[in-house]
Amino acid sequence: MAFGSLQPHAADPLLLLMERQDADRRPHKIDLGVGVYRNARGATPVFAAIKQAERRLVESQDSKAYLGSGGDAGFVAAVAAEVFGASEGRGPTPMRGLQTVGGTGALRLATELLARTLARRRIWLTVPTWPNHLPIIAAAGLTPLSIDCADRAARAQRDERLLTALSGAQAGDAVLVQACCHNPTGTPVAPGFWRELSDLVLKRNLLPILDLAYQGLGRGWSEDVVGLREFVARVPEVLVAYSCDKNFGLYRERVGALFVAATTASETEALYHALLGIARADYSMPPDHGAAVVRIVLGDRDLRRLWQEELADMRHRVADLRECLAAQGRIGRLDLGSLAHGEGFFALLDLTAGEVEWLRSERAIYVAGSGRINIAGLGGDDVAPFVEALRLAQLAASG
Ligand code: LMR
Repeated sequence: MAFGSLQPHAADPLLLLMERQDADRRPHKIDLGVGVYRNARGATPVFAAIKQAERRLVESQDSKAYLGSGGDAGFVAAVAAEVFGASEGRGPTPMRGLQTVGGTGALRLATELLARTLARRRIWLTVPTWPNHLPIIAAAGLTPLSIDCADRAARAQRDERLLTALSGAQAGDAVLVQACCHNPTGTPVAPGFWRELSDLVLKRNLLPILDLAYQGLGRGWSEDVVGLREFVARVPEVLVAYSCDKNFGLYRERVGALFVAATTASETEALYHALLGIARADYSMPPDHGAAVVRIVLGDRDLRRLWQEELADMRHRVADLRECLAAQGRIGRLDLGSLAHGEGFFALLDLTAGEVEWLRSERAIYVAGSGRINIAGLGGDDVAPFVEALRLAQLAASG
């Protein structure tokens, strides 16, 4: 009974919600839990461009031999060009990148680099954030310095609060920032934020990690990285974690990348090799399929155009749904009108735990325990019943 004293490990709440939703056999479920895009019929189809690229891959791939810890170099170069622009805007010290196991894998490597190679101890971030950020930080052995932006007024001032807190940061501290489509609030980055953040990072000698998991699902493909590009052009030392889950619809394939840059080319090279070493010890090499497919899509003019059209359709559908919800205005205590100012999949509603539970048990509507809704999960006819359920949930809780 060597393991008899082990406490059961608490399941990840979002993944648990996903399981409960899958097991729910009620016909009119509305799943606004995990951040997955659904079309008007409630499906998450494989992009047509991805299907075509997969066929080409199957036909043309003549070897499954190892690629190394950095993964598919062509994929990394293609993603780098999309994110940073062709010149990368960085002069003599361009970014260096490696393929990772999804955006989570990129964040994990970045935080391990901080803790193990660079002996950094502290990382600043605003909370609420993507719930998995905190376990990733803890797993690397870093101490999170969470800036509380929980209530509605604080959420609206998230970026000012971060900048204020960072003016008290110690040299060498890291800071984690989401680059667009904030998870879970949907609140866009404040105007001038990237400029001010870069000033502070330079002045206080901080190390930024930018998390870019939703490029193309906010304002537009290049629009979503305007601030990030301005930032990386000014800041010599930076890490950028990238995910292809949502914008290529490759969720289960686990496709991501991590980019790093330092003040000199030789330092950048040293960090890149340290990352390869961490990856080698963690999982040796990333899986090939999804990254190879992204490389094929980005490298072919017609496939790239098709994929961009599909992505734009998704973005517009989510923006329309957001507008539709916002047009409902105030529903009891909830101000849906404020959703109009958001971007991306998510919005955070001030629902109580009892209301979230009522939505699930009485209406088969799945919402994260935090009150986060994935707007991209709403089907074509779901807005009216969802809004009505929000009204009834509040009545039931007060009655
Ligand atoms: C989410 O926030 O729902 C997604 O990013 C999925 C995940 O892994 O948490």
